[in-house]
Amino acid sequence: MALALVPDQISRVRATDFTQDLDLLDDEVWRLLDCAAGIKQAPGRYAQALSGKSVALLFEKPSLRTRMTFELAIKQMGGQTVFSEGRIGAREPIKDVARNLERWVHAIVARTFSQATIDELALWSSAPVINALSDLYHPCQALSDVFTISEVFGDLHGKKLAFVGDGNNVAHSLMLTAARLGMDFAIAGPSGYQPDAEIVARATRIAAAAGSALTVTTDPAEVVRGAHAVYTDVWASMGQEAEADQRRSVFSSYQVNETLFDLARPDAIFLHCLPAKRGEEVTDAIMEHPRSRVFDQAENRLHAQKALLLEVLGARC
Ligand code: CP
Ligand code: NVA
Repeated sequence: MALALVPDQISRVRATDFTQDLDLLDDEVWRLLDCAAGIKQAPGRYAQALSGKSVALLFEKPSLRTRMTFELAIKQMGGQTVFSEGRIGAREPIKDVARNLERWVHAIVARTFSQATIDELALWSSAPVINALSDLYHPCQALSDVFTISEVFGDLHGKKLAFVGDGNNVAHSLMLTAARLGMDFAIAGPSGYQPDAEIVARATRIAAAAGSALTVTTDPAEVVRGAHAVYTDVWASMGQEAEADQRRSVFSSYQVNETLFDLARPDAIFLHCLPAKRGEEVTDAIMEHPRSRVFDQAENRLHAQKALLLEVLGARC
């Protein structure tokens, strides 16, 4: 898996793209989290914030939360959306798609099979490109999730986020985002299904600079012990449906159930990006647990993405 050659941190006035988590600087993430909190408290103040702006949503894969929350975020701030479904680059080259869209819209939100598609759109489009999930990252999800954790626990520094299961797109983005914000991040998954080594190496450097801990292991109990938040995601992501049976057996000891969740702090919360497969990566009892915050996460996609749109479009929060 080749990663784009992006330095860990760069310096500039504001973000122009959000192709992956590290396109935002640390300061921009903190500012965005503050902005999201303000938007959540007083959404009406932002009713005209995107007046006159149009945003294209290009989705190669299905979506409930991401599509709904981006459409609503843009419309609730006075902007317009256009939606397109299907493979980007199938009918014409990606670089041509990008140079059409930049003539019509102020930003592009793309959900793609390959990160390379998002990177190529961003390379050719002068309009900012936002990653709405790729094979490697789900950065909008991670922003919303750290916002959700901060609502429950306040200061994020030193809080422990445990991820149990597949080292996938959601895990990668959470790892990078948690590490840079000074959170301890620990992930447990079977060998062969752990996070990408280059992304772990990058997150390790970021964690060292932020003074946080990063653990990658095969032992779910080790990561959940002492955690403030316990997170899981499906064992077979979109595009991996053919591997679903095999993955069910490989991951069978990585289910978040009451026994595992009980090892976390007594006030720990349960998180899942959704959609969830009850009976696989998580039990129904944990999804419905009084400390499950999965629907707060879904709500917060709306507020955090409003803040992100203001950031990449250069609008004041
Ligand atoms: N969590 C998330 O991105 O959900 P959707 O696939 O429904 O957008
Ligand atoms: N890892 C999952 C996340 C869905 C929001 C997938 O890519 O299908």
